Amino acid sequence: MTDDKERPLLGQTALVTGGAKRLGRAIALTLAHAGADVVVHCRGSLTEAKALAEELRGLGRQAWVEQADLGDAAQAEALFASACRSAGGGLDILVNSASIFPQGRLDDLDPAELDRNIRINALAPFILGRALARSRRGGCIVNLLDSRIMDHDAEHAAYHLSKRLLATLTRMMALEFAPHVRVNAVAPGLILPPPGEDDAYLERLKRTNPLERHGGPDDVADAVLFLARSAFVTGQTIFVDGGRHMRGAVYG
Ligand SMILES: NC(=O)c1ccc[n+]([C@@H]2O[C@H](COP(=O)([O-])OP(=O)(O)OC[C@H]3O[C@@H](n4cnc5c(N)ncnc54)[C@H](OP(=O)(O)O)[C@@H]3O)[C@@H](O)[C@H]2O)c1
Repeated sequence: MTDDKERPLLGQTALVTGGAKRLGRAIALTLAHAGADVVVHCRGSLTEAKALAEELRGLGRQAWVEQADLGDAAQAEALFASACRSAGGGLDILVNSASIFPQGRLDDLDPAELDRNIRINALAPFILGRALARSRRGGCIVNLLDSRIMDHDAEHAAYHLSKRLLATLTRMMALEFAPHVRVNAVAPGLILPPPGEDDAYLERLKRTNPLERHGGPDDVADAVLFLARSAFVTGQTIFVDGGRHMRGAVYG
């Protein structure tokens, strides 16, 4: 196999937001294995981000850590500039994985909470994506959505609204940033338990998926890699959810 086939992202630089842990970490590792140098963004998980950067360097890649609160639009804007400075040039790949997932129903929705969800889960990915498009270097953006954008997630109303907004932004950006920037999304289903839950959560819910199993972080990372290397794909969402998006609202 040629090096190009084994490392299709060689010479490219990726920024992975929320990259220190969980799905972001798996994505950063997969992109690095594919040859990309990686800027690992974190907010609170600085120790984990630094350890991951060290691991990426061990793979022969360059890696940097950038810290920013993406609830603050000015910090999101500054993150893109500092990531470019750290990497000594521009960015080729942006993966918007950082997110919050708070509980809360529509009937007691606090406007400030909706605003916070939109700022972190939708506005920051847009600000970073627009900065990539404005850099006029080309490249690709992958937004992390949620398979439940296809039905109704009553227990996470603000989150659900923010991910729906990000889904719409994915299509808008794909059209408006073409032809130089491709914009796609991955919509994970049952992958990792949310904070406060353990594997029993995954076991309990896995039968709600047509494939009757849950996924793992590498399933999501593989879909991100596919989109990063697929030069003729834009405006697409890949559901990595065992087919869950084809069913109605069956989550407990
Ligand atoms: N896990 C799943 O099964 C699943 C299912 C459906 C969709 N998704 C989507 O896939 C993506 C990754 O999922 P995940 O479970 O890995 O996410 P997660 O653990 O809930 O969050 C990822 C990271 O987001 C960062 N973050 C939170 N608030 C932030 C803020 N104000 N500013 C900057 N960063 C902030 C945190 O970074 P620090 O730790 O550094 O603070 C956190 O580690 C998310 O977009 C999620 O909605 C995941």
